[in-house]
Amino acid sequence: MTELAVIGGSGFDRMQGLEIVRKEQVDTPFGRPSAPLIHGTFQARRILFLPRHGEAHTIPPHQVNYRANLWALKQAGATRVVGVAAVGGIHGEMGPGTIVIPDQIIDYTYGREHTLFEGDLSEITHIDFTLPYCESLRRTLIVAAERAAVEVINAGTYGATQGPRLESAMEINRLERDGCDLVGMTGMPEAALARELELCYAGCAVVANRAAGRGEGEITMAEIERNLVGGMERVRLLLSAWIAAF
Ligand code: HPA
Repeated sequence: MTELAVIGGSGFDRMQGLEIVRKEQVDTPFGRPSAPLIHGTFQARRILFLPRHGEAHTIPPHQVNYRANLWALKQAGATRVVGVAAVGGIHGEMGPGTIVIPDQIIDYTYGREHTLFEGDLSEITHIDFTLPYCESLRRTLIVAAERAAVEVINAGTYGATQGPRLESAMEINRLERDGCDLVGMTGMPEAALARELELCYAGCAVVANRAAGRGEGEITMAEIERNLVGGMERVRLLLSAWIAAF
């Protein structure tokens, strides 16, 4: 059964080289996922792919049905899930184009459907989240990056903000004081829901821009899109080496 899955983010709504075997429209107890699940082959290995923001990139971060996405992947047999995401770089070493495999999260989101545990309190509701990402999956990604000669930073704290607006410079200062190295809008509740479903989940973050107040002038969508092109191509090489390892 397929077990590797990739959730694609901004700049990675499609995975070049992925041969689509079939698309499956899935219904879950939480509604529909962002798009039909793509069952495909990548270098002769079966994988699942789901574009987080929809096939035509129409779903903003705060309206993604994270619960349905993770549920659908689990139901389709995924055990290991990589969430690719565009982020802003707060840490000075995390400039545009940098790929980071984060190891910690701080959640600043609000009003999102953030848990699968509702009503039936006979279930365990308090997942351990000391290490929010699956360490074994993080390691396999880092090893794959080495094998593919793709430079990555192998740790960092991801601050998940609500969006869809970008942050103020002072909000970024606060995030930095809190210990955040990166800022993005989709890391939560995705990581926590994966843990609730006992999926091994890791993030692969691509810096699209310096965070607010850290670069020069305004942050534009044109800048973000431009910077993501090269970064996402390197993510593809990294994932290609990751998939080949199974
Ligand atoms: N902030 C939040 N999310 C982002 C950013 C940012 O600067 N860039 C890309 N996603």
